[in-house]
Amino acid sequence: MTSPPFAAPATEAGPTPAPRRTRRRYAVVGTGHRARLYTDAMTGEHADVADLVALCDTNPVRLAFHTERARRAGADVPAGYDAHDVGRMLDEVRPDVVVVSSPDRMHAEHVAAALHHGADVVVEKPLTIDAAGMYTILAAARTSGRQVTVAHNYRYAPRNAALRQVVADGRIGDVVSVHFEWLLDTAHGADYFRRWHRDKATSGGLLVHKASHHFDLVGWWTQDVPESVYARGGLRFYGEAAGDGGPRYALDLAADPELASLYAGDAATDGYRRDRDPFSPGATIEDTLSLLVGYRSGASMTYSLTAHSPWEGYRVAINGTRGRAELDVVERCHTTEGLPGARPDDGASACCEVRRGGGRLVVQEHWGRAVEVPLVGSAGHGEGDAAMLHDVLRDHLPPSEGGPVADPLGRRAGVVDGLRAVAVGVAGNRSLATGQVVPVASLGIPL
Ligand SMILES: NC(=O)c1ccc[n+]([C@@H]2O[C@H](COP(=O)([O-])OP(=O)(O)OC[C@H]3O[C@@H](n4cnc5c(N)ncnc54)[C@H](O)[C@@H]3O)[C@@H](O)[C@H]2O)c1
Repeated sequence: MTSPPFAAPATEAGPTPAPRRTRRRYAVVGTGHRARLYTDAMTGEHADVADLVALCDTNPVRLAFHTERARRAGADVPAGYDAHDVGRMLDEVRPDVVVVSSPDRMHAEHVAAALHHGADVVVEKPLTIDAAGMYTILAAARTSGRQVTVAHNYRYAPRNAALRQVVADGRIGDVVSVHFEWLLDTAHGADYFRRWHRDKATSGGLLVHKASHHFDLVGWWTQDVPESVYARGGLRFYGEAAGDGGPRYALDLAADPELASLYAGDAATDGYRRDRDPFSPGATIEDTLSLLVGYRSGASMTYSLTAHSPWEGYRVAINGTRGRAELDVVERCHTTEGLPGARPDDGASACCEVRRGGGRLVVQEHWGRAVEVPLVGSAGHGEGDAAMLHDVLRDHLPPSEGGPVADPLGRRAGVVDGLRAVAVGVAGNRSLATGQVVPVASLGIPL
């Protein structure tokens, strides 16, 4: 008689833990220009940890554009879905993470659908455009328990992180006020008046679409929460009332092969117009905005956005109980876009003694001399993207296996950060409409 096999002694280690997954499966909803950042990263630099399994868009040409890029990068060809089939896509593909890079108006619907299907979400800024969208997203995040990351890439730009570090180190004491001015030049600023952004119901206007970046930075720099907003502004430069901007504002899609593939010819048959005249009728957003924002701590912010400046960049000053920090950034010294013979690098070469490019961070404590804080990196608009992608696409891995290291500055923005950032713009839009100071609490969303 053969003896029965021995049972494993009780003292031995328990069942072998399931191997940790090193790869995650991604779907991207909204496959326009911005989506390329993610699809390229998933099929390129981060292809060792990411599988791009599905794409979803209203427009088959833009879907095909991204599918072809993935194929050329040597990745498996992702499944393509029409926008009407986003639910079916989530059922069939069951992605781990959904990247939402559709027009702002659609974010709430797409984020909520992904969360309810059990996926985590990376959503482009702005998180959403109105109070109803804020409610939809917060409710879905709470009931699903899934993670929402808002792609606030400006936090990852080294100069902005340096200012956060100055405040976190207590060098200027407790923050009492912020003065923040953002300038978009007549190349970048005009672009918001050529496409869907010009429609407030689709983008929330620049107070939501663009300034949510800036309000997020202020909340992060100061670790404060907005409480009240008073806004003034209007369409003062672009739009039909301003008259004809002339040929220099015309966008030649054919001159840029990528823009042409995404938005011209057959890609435009769905009515998507990428190259409207910024001075044509129909723009319902503002190009000139001023705000006074009150924060929970008692601090206040004066903020201004100009979308028709001759140079591009920003100036922020933070006053504290111990001193003051000033960050000045020139992203483009002047623009020649539309002028005969203009070259893409003209803006950089136009920097001079009068207008120098780059960033400068100065801290001055009371009774002390001004001290310049050295900054690394360039002043470019998308500079934080690479660091953000690393953080977002590798966060399931420990640092020893290439995952993100602990970040004492807390740059990763979650759902509450995203809600706080858009709350200022949503309340600001109400203030523009009513002429009144708008309490952020009146939006009905706990922040
Ligand atoms: N953080 C940044 O620096 C940055 C820069 C650019 C854009 N963005 C954000 O990225 C998002 C996309 O911007 P973009 O410039 O790529 O715009 P885009 O118009 O080029 O792309 C949007 C895509 O969504 C598609 N779409 C429209 N309705 C849809 C629907 N119902 N379902 C699925 N797809 C739909 C469009 O056909 C288009 O292909 C916006 O929210 C924008 O704010 C962020």
